[in-house]
Amino acid sequence: MNLDAKDSGHCQWQSPSNIALVKYWGKKHEQIPCNPSISFTLKNAQTTTSLEWERKDVPSSSDVDFTFYFHGQEKESFRQRIQKYLNRMAEEIPLLLNYRLTISSENTFPHSSGIASSASAMNALAAALIDMERQITISIPSEETKQSKFDQRISRLSRLGSGSACRSNYANAALWGQCSYPGSSDAYAVGLGTILHPVFQQYKDAILLVDQGEKKVSSSAGHQLMVGNPYGDVRYQEARKNTENLLEILKSGDLDAFTTLVEAEAMTLHALMMASSPGYILMHPNTLIIIQAIQGYRKDTGIPVCFTLDAGPNVHLLYPDHHKDPVKKFIQDELISYCVDRQWIDDEMGSGSRKLK
Ligand code: PMV
Repeated sequence: MNLDAKDSGHCQWQSPSNIALVKYWGKKHEQIPCNPSISFTLKNAQTTTSLEWERKDVPSSSDVDFTFYFHGQEKESFRQRIQKYLNRMAEEIPLLLNYRLTISSENTFPHSSGIASSASAMNALAAALIDMERQITISIPSEETKQSKFDQRISRLSRLGSGSACRSNYANAALWGQCSYPGSSDAYAVGLGTILHPVFQQYKDAILLVDQGEKKVSSSAGHQLMVGNPYGDVRYQEARKNTENLLEILKSGDLDAFTTLVEAEAMTLHALMMASSPGYILMHPNTLIIIQAIQGYRKDTGIPVCFTLDAGPNVHLLYPDHHKDPVKKFIQDELISYCVDRQWIDDEMGSGSRKLK
């Protein structure tokens, strides 16, 4: 048996999904965002990716050689996107062309639940590829051994696969995009875990599944439609302002200001979709019913629940951990009848990506 990682080896990484509070919507080439964004990292919606590598006798000249399994099945429909990504990765990690890769991926959440899986999937894959390189390359530049640089690299390389993926490896919260925050960059995200006011620790996210089908308009098509959107420039300016304000809110723990800003961001995202050419609507009637129920519950009880939306009809209900008992009762009694098959995912803030044994 050959135990030299240069000949063959394996690793396994797990990365979570994340939910944006200030939205990334509109991009330049290679997922350089038109505005900064901030997200909470989730805990239960995760992708686990195993990577095995075996040295080839003759290196590939262009295409990285790989097989991809999703929940144990070869998945042809993902092949093209992964091939494109791996070929791009070979520009960053040229040794990939010397190996044959077997990639096996699993999600903890149902594949068709409408939860964006590209963030967790691309983050776990980037982490595994960087780990492979680390194992094979004996002389690692000393900078790269620092955890912060390692995280930055996972973030930057996952961004090349899916923009929002670059925020998934950090614990609790992340900021992506150049702004006043020290160290912020358009190329990768930075962690915000250490600045959070205690009220945001273990913040909860109930993902209310309104529809599980394929999205009518993909995120990439949606980003594309921001080119030429008449409200684009105003939006990017507003998002920059919201990013700066949210950074202060996350430090101060002002939940009223948090609610106002987060809900405005969600509604703006969908307003931008409606104002695209052609315009489109990803919300469903039940999305609106749930949003109104959440706002009514907040008014009636004073409990600081708020909603946000991804590029789809599902509603993310955000609330502080210490209110979980009454809020779960509210979900059971008043919201799940508007969810498909009464399904929702009980999620919360998590600690980012990690290597599994
Ligand atoms: O990373 P993408 O291309 O799937 O875009 C994600 C866009 C939103 O989820 C709508 C917002 C965000 O910042 O995550």
